[in-house]
Amino acid sequence: MEQELKALLATALSEITAVSSEPSLEDFRLRYLGKKGLLTALSSKMREVPADQRSSVGALLNEARDGISSAIDQKKSALQAALDALQAAGLDITLPGRPLPTGGLHPMTQVLDRAVSILRRMGFALATGPEVETEWHCFDALNTPADHPARNESDTFYFSNGLLLRTHTSSVQVRTMQQQAPPVRIIAPGSAFRRDEIDATHLSAFNQLEGLYVAPNVSLADLKGTLSHFFRALFGPNTEIRFRPHFFPFTEPSYEVDVKLTPKGQAPRWVELLGCGMVDPAVFEAICNSRNDEVYHPDRVTGFAFGMGLERLAMLQWGIPDIRHLIENDVRFLSQFSA
Ligand code: PHE
Repeated sequence: MEQELKALLATALSEITAVSSEPSLEDFRLRYLGKKGLLTALSSKMREVPADQRSSVGALLNEARDGISSAIDQKKSALQAALDALQAAGLDITLPGRPLPTGGLHPMTQVLDRAVSILRRMGFALATGPEVETEWHCFDALNTPADHPARNESDTFYFSNGLLLRTHTSSVQVRTMQQQAPPVRIIAPGSAFRRDEIDATHLSAFNQLEGLYVAPNVSLADLKGTLSHFFRALFGPNTEIRFRPHFFPFTEPSYEVDVKLTPKGQAPRWVELLGCGMVDPAVFEAICNSRNDEVYHPDRVTGFAFGMGLERLAMLQWGIPDIRHLIENDVRFLSQFSA
């Protein structure tokens, strides 16, 4: 019995050195100290030990039990210490992996890309112009009289040298026609600036997309067809649009175009989305004077133009309630638009 106890303690102590995890430590504990464990089995043999040896065998039994128990305790803290060290080194192997944030396109970029690709498929080429403009390109050439309210200091940002921040992208119509002979079929996306009070639907710097098509015999039917197709491609094949008579100095006749949209869970409603019309002959005359030729003479060409606010388009597409979300760069907002 004494021999057996000594041998059991020795094997147990050498076995435990190979234990390297909490679950296998528990297996080890059960194998020796559990109800059906090896030491428990030995101790039930105490009854067979002659009376005069009982106290020394009993002492050895306790020694073996204590030895194994304290080896288990030591192992337990060694395992815990190893885990703590990993965690302190910033490595917790039990945590799930961290996903890497991948970023995505800003909703304005997404709307712009879609609008441009639809219009390019219809043959519109991209054009650009400066954001700092002359009064002539922004207003005079566009048949806007000197006393028009849009030209007011309270509506337009003027520089002290007489230049201004363009109030619309329509100035690109003028610059394009100055530079190239008809036919022209261009779109000009870009920033526009107005001295508007900033609120849920207004920014003082915003984005527009201008369109211009000038050639012999361009008609209002062409304008309607182009815009119907554009909005069906953007909002779905059953999208309805309507033309409401309006006024712009540089188009005649002029319209505002409404699109019938059904916001989620709401009744359909008409939403104003752009201004448009047939290029006013007075604009062609201003272009002819500036070019010093007659290629844009109103007897030779006609044209249509349209201009829309891109923020509004983005807000409608996604049901964004406040235009300011689009410029605040809050990732909690923006991450909702990354694929
Ligand atoms: N420039 C006009 C605006 O900013 C929109 C427009 C563009 C209207 C082209 C007619 C033709 O409101």
